[in-house]
Amino acid sequence: MEPFNSYLNFNRGEILSNCNIVVRHLSDMEGMYYDLEATQKIINEDDRVIYKVYNIDVPEKYGHLQHCTSIIYPGRVGDEFHMTKGHFHAQEDTAEIYLVLQGTGKLLMQKKDTEVKILDMQSGSISYIPPYWAHRTINTGNKPLIFFAVYPGEAGHNYGIIESKGFCKLIIDKDGQIKVIDNPNY
Ligand SMILES: [Fe+2]
Repeated sequence: MEPFNSYLNFNRGEILSNCNIVVRHLSDMEGMYYDLEATQKIINEDDRVIYKVYNIDVPEKYGHLQHCTSIIYPGRVGDEFHMTKGHFHAQEDTAEIYLVLQGTGKLLMQKKDTEVKILDMQSGSISYIPPYWAHRTINTGNKPLIFFAVYPGEAGHNYGIIESKGFCKLIIDKDGQIKVIDNPNY
């Protein structure tokens, strides 16, 4: 394979070439926000886009490095901030790095034994997600949260456990304050 460049729009988070774009509407995340009534209402109204991922096209193989930008749009579903689905890596002993370009948020991580760690995300923060930690990103600000990620080619995604149970913590807006609460459904 030949070396190549990709080009990123820093303000919008979009990558202009060599990539496939994943667009997640709220209907793609049904049941992942704890307020099911609010979820249904929004899906019926405009089924808004929660986030997009621009994945640069690289083989999903050992030795390569997957890289992408994610854009989480600001907003809430009920009182829960917009977030990504979150996942473990299918190859669990693989890590990931997030570099925030714009916006503010939280990086929620959880191990299989339910140990939880939450890091702040802000412009310039570089977060290291070690192997074995599931990861979800949450936009707690009022601008898009845009970050660049790099992870091993063979890592893959395992959404299964997260889709059925979620994370054991939720990050919500409580009277204008960012609060971490126990997930009542976990
Ligand atoms: Fe990942």
